[in-house]
Amino acid sequence: PLKVTKILCIGAGYVGGPTCAVIALKCPHITVTIVDLNQARIDAWNSADFKLPIYEPGLEDVVRQCRGRNLFFSTDVEKGILDAELIFVSVNTPTKKSGVGAGFAADLNYVELATRQIAAVATSSKIVVEKSTVPCRTAESMRTILEANSKPNCRFDILSNPEFLAEGTAISDLFKPDRVLIGSLQTPEGKAACAALAGVYANWVPEHAILTVGLWSSELSKLAANAMLAQRISSVNALSAICEATGANIDEVANAVGYDSRVGPKFLKASVGFGGSCFQKDILNLVYLSESLHLPEVAAYWRQVVEMNEYQKRRFSKRVVDTLFNTITGKRIAVLGFAFKADTGDTRESAAITIIRDFQSERAFVNIYDPQVAETQIWADLAEASPTVAPESMKKQVKICSSALEACKDAEAVVIATEWKEFKEIDWAHVYKHMKKPAFVFDGRLLVDAAKLTEIGFKVTTIGRPAL
Ligand code: NAD
Ligand code: UDX
Repeated sequence: PLKVTKILCIGAGYVGGPTCAVIALKCPHITVTIVDLNQARIDAWNSADFKLPIYEPGLEDVVRQCRGRNLFFSTDVEKGILDAELIFVSVNTPTKKSGVGAGFAADLNYVELATRQIAAVATSSKIVVEKSTVPCRTAESMRTILEANSKPNCRFDILSNPEFLAEGTAISDLFKPDRVLIGSLQTPEGKAACAALAGVYANWVPEHAILTVGLWSSELSKLAANAMLAQRISSVNALSAICEATGANIDEVANAVGYDSRVGPKFLKASVGFGGSCFQKDILNLVYLSESLHLPEVAAYWRQVVEMNEYQKRRFSKRVVDTLFNTITGKRIAVLGFAFKADTGDTRESAAITIIRDFQSERAFVNIYDPQVAETQIWADLAEASPTVAPESMKKQVKICSSALEACKDAEAVVIATEWKEFKEIDWAHVYKHMKKPAFVFDGRLLVDAAKLTEIGFKVTTIGRPAL
């Protein structure tokens, strides 16, 4: 099979950056170039002090080892295309905001623009790899565009190679993936392209973990995996509501259920609701696909996973208000954590955004602290969530703090929205001393030891447990 020596990745985001940096690390004989239209992002990847545009444990170390050796970041997309043998398309595919399928369908405009640019620029044959998460049969559209616009003697083979990394653990997920999935046409040329990409991963991934399938199965498997993972969380969150009403404890229930080897123990943690750029977007995409295929029952089934998540966030905000004697107007609430999960600075679809919006509409004052999220990002997210609130009144209601202790000072309640380890290790006795009394803690992440906090004097409310 073709031995790949030059790889281009279009899109230097959360997926393209870490994925291709790891390929560069594991394959020193391959030159990897990552391009993006966003100059600021590329500058950050190239920054002398390694202030990378995304926070991901272990990433800086990988980039330090390869950058300038066989890993390059650039905004010169055309040169990148000309040079490469294999091109990953790893651009964003957000939910469409307007037009047909608005609110559900994936916006494929970025994928299409990148594809058209490949066709327009390429002067030699390329393997084009769909890395972005896309609806089933997108590879077919890419192929049509490429073939209709290609120059003589240029052949394009399209592969689907969805990415399964999770943020916060991207580097370890990439070092030791559960599986690498490659979809191709089942033609001799398709299979040869598939073997070439499999050869790249074979530098560090065991052969049995490299799955090769048909193109459409590969595309659908990505949506299916995310839908089933999110469904587990919505299932456990639905049960958490029953626990709160009955006296059962969701941790005990999840543990008992997870002991069944057919279910397994992972990914069963009740929470204030799942966030992140993928779950909601990909399920809505699956809902849209099901509806387009005239399968309304299938669409309704998956839609409920997202609806349950919305309910969980709403329910949590309401529980805070109810517990604080049915009003939080004028009260100060500390929100610990703004990222959608620990160990990332990413805030896309973070449950914290929804909860804080709810607190604001009750006219509470909110102190926010997150160890990784930039202040400008927090303001941007809050403005987007409450478009009718003027920036000046937003700044009167919300304060961004530089430590958990600062955020909690003089607050009536602390809400844990992200499971950062440091929140477990705070000096809670100190926090208690400096809060208004009674001092409330709302643990949206099953993070802290409720019994210990109760002993200190806190009134603790935990997801999936009845009020103490
Ligand atoms: P992102 O927004 O962080 O990065 C995408 C980048 O592509 C942006 O920097 C954008 O400027 C760039 N871009 C867009 N069009 C371009 C063009 N024509 N030329 C050059 N650059 C261009 O997005 P992401 O989180 O990395 O996600 C990328 C894809 O991977 C999405 O389809 C997503 O669903 C999928 N995915 C994401 C994750 C995750 O954890 N974030 C995991 C698996 C799969
Ligand atoms: C997810 C998929 O896990 C990954 O395979 C895919 O490639 C991209 O989408 P990501 O969104 O980065 O990854 O993080 P993930 O760990 O899946 O968490 C998603 C959300 O679910 C977070 O808000 C997290 O806090 C929440 N979650 C996760 C729970 O509430 N309970 C759990 O048990 C697990």
